[in-house]
Amino acid sequence: MTEWTTLLPIKILVTGGNGQVAHDLVLLGKQDNHFKMIPLNASELDVRSVVSIQHALDLYMPDYVINTAAFNKVDAAEHELERCFSLNRDGVRNLAIECGALSIPLIHLSTDHLFDGHYASGYVEDDDASPLGVFGESKRQGEEFLRQYHPKHIILRVSWIFSARGDNYLLRTLEKARSSTEIEAADDRQGCPTSAADVGRVILAIIKQLHNGAEAWGTYHYCGAEVTTRYRFTEAVLAAAGQYEALKTTSLLPVPSRALHIEVERPASSVLKCKKLLSTFGIRQRPWRSELMAVLRQIYQQK
Ligand SMILES: NC(=O)c1ccc[n+]([C@@H]2O[C@H](COP(=O)([O-])OP(=O)(O)OC[C@H]3O[C@@H](n4cnc5c(N)ncnc54)[C@H](OP(=O)(O)O)[C@@H]3O)[C@@H](O)[C@H]2O)c1
Repeated sequence: MTEWTTLLPIKILVTGGNGQVAHDLVLLGKQDNHFKMIPLNASELDVRSVVSIQHALDLYMPDYVINTAAFNKVDAAEHELERCFSLNRDGVRNLAIECGALSIPLIHLSTDHLFDGHYASGYVEDDDASPLGVFGESKRQGEEFLRQYHPKHIILRVSWIFSARGDNYLLRTLEKARSSTEIEAADDRQGCPTSAADVGRVILAIIKQLHNGAEAWGTYHYCGAEVTTRYRFTEAVLAAAGQYEALKTTSLLPVPSRALHIEVERPASSVLKCKKLLSTFGIRQRPWRSELMAVLRQIYQQK
């Protein structure tokens, strides 16, 4: 059998190259000489434009495309329907058709927001989608187009992403903790926080196996290990960040989600079961607590 490590680096084009998952994914890929990473930001590859996609595919001729481009503002999506659907549905359709025409495998990121969150024990890949809002519905329709137009795809649904950059719950919590004495966090929403770098690790591990001939196209779930609540996650963030700086917050209050006046209801359970990923690719969940410590180290080293 040919040792795959002796082959040319695998060329991976990443859409939404300025995003938080893209950043950490590309960083990881660049540290591994099996990969040549090609991150393209929205002005270099606009997923809403077929011409833009065709141009990038012709220019770079990637072996794989990873789509991290998305409209992720769950509340704003209710008012910015056109923008939301143009990225999360039409952008995925465009990529599916263009990558499909060239038989370039497409790895696409999706979300726990496809589910209504009523299964406290968590969701498997085949559970029915029933999104609570426009954002989840747009991601659901994007997935459907991908299945329809391009058989060589991986849909990786992830949840509760945190990283040292971008717009995420961890960074918002740190901001609040520097300015408020009291923080409220929902204790009726459970899920599994997942670092952007960990998502990057999983995607690259999948690609290595696909490149070695694994015909394992389809939909998978991934999230960090250990189910928690927003309240418990906030508690862990404050405890760990408090080792690096004196935070203003002295009181953390558990509250029901409805007390937070969020416009769109979030799934009560965002727990994604990851057994299919383990049994197909042998990829295990990493504990989010150790990932949190690594991300905080990055944040405080940047300061
Ligand atoms: N964040 C989470 O908690 C979470 C949870 C579950 C699933 N996911 C999914 O994981 C994926 C990555 O999420 P993320 O948090 O890394 O997203 P992100 O940080 O919001 O990045 C999305 C990127 O898409 C880019 N973009 C916007 N319009 C574009 C266009 N027309 N063409 C190409 N790119 C465009 C944005 O560029 P600009 O910055 O220039 O606008 C941004 O860099 C998404 O599919 C998301 O739905 C995220």
